[in-house]
This record gives sequence, C-alpha cells and structure tokens, in this order.
Amino acid sequence: MKIPTISALAVVTSLIAASGAPAQDTTAGKTSFNKCLACHAIGAGAKNKIGPELNGLDGRKSGTAEGYSYSDANKNSGITWSKEVFLEYIKDPNSKIPGTKMAFAGIKNEKEANDLWAYIAQFDKDGKTK
Ligand code: HEC
Repeated sequence: MKIPTISALAVVTSLIAASGAPAQDTTAGKTSFNKCLACHAIGAGAKNKIGPELNGLDGRKSGTAEGYSYSDANKNSGITWSKEVFLEYIKDPNSKIPGTKMAFAGIKNEKEANDLWAYIAQFDKDGKTK
C-alpha cells in the first residue's frame, strides 16, 4: 500500500504546483465577460448584437466584424486589436476611441482586464478556442 500512497501524494503536489497563481485566469475572464454579454457575443455561432461579435479579436482590425454597422470613430481608429491595445481601451473605451458608440464605462481593475483578455483571446475567428 505504500507505493500508491506516495504516488497519489506526488500527483497532489504537482497539481498544487501547476495551479499556483496563474497570471491570467480565463474562468474569471468568462465571469467578467458577463458585463459585455448584453451587447457582445463570442464563441461558436456568435452574432452581432448591439455591439459586434468578438471572435478572433486578437489580431483583428477595428471595425471589421462582418455585417456590423460601426461608428466612424471605431471604424477609422486604425487599431489592430492586441492585448496591449485592448487593456488601454477597456479601462476607458471613450478615451481610447473618442466618439465610440460603445456605451460602457470601462473596467478599471487591471487583473480583471487581463483575465478578460485571456478569455476573449482564446477564440479564433470561427469561435473555436485555440
Ligand atoms: C451597452 C452595450 C455594450 C457593452 C456593455 C459593451 N460593449 Fe463593446 N461595443 C459596443 C458597441 C455598440 C460597439 C461598436 C462601437 C462603435 O462602432 O463605435 C462596441 C465595440 C467594441 C469593441 C471594438 C470591436 C471592433 O470590431 O473594433 C470591442 C473590442 C469591445 N466592444 C469590447 C467590449 C468588452 C470586452 C465589453 C465588456 C467588458 C464590452 N465591449 C461591453 C457595445 C457594448
């Protein structure tokens, strides 16, 4: 009985090590995305709602979700979405894109914004997780 006990212990120990304080937490990011859900869809079959669908956002040019009618401000912002730009944008959307029609105050908490990006960036343009 000794050997199974020891190997079970080793598994537990390595699990604890692997789960130690991840820099980005997609589960927390999914919860945070609830704040966006009224206006945005993401994942398989996501459609434009009040705001554009957000699949494949990592590397996507601003204002290019098919069939969505953007404001000129968003369309002409010249942004290519990346983690860096997203983090600047989401803390105060109207300051990064003055005149955007996205009526959202922003997410000031850096950890939450990071988790949110980790969640969003998982989805490729077909809404599959990478
Ligand atoms: C009240 C509705 C609303 C909420 C809530 C909202 N958005 Fe938006 N969002 C919009 C609209 C509308 C646009 C289009 C803006 C434009 O054309 O000026 C937009 C645009 C965007 C864009 C630019 C997309 C592109 O293709 O260029 C991103 C990124 C974005 N939103 C992310 C988010 C995230 C992340 C959240 C949640 C934290 C969120 N939004 C919450 C309405 C909303």
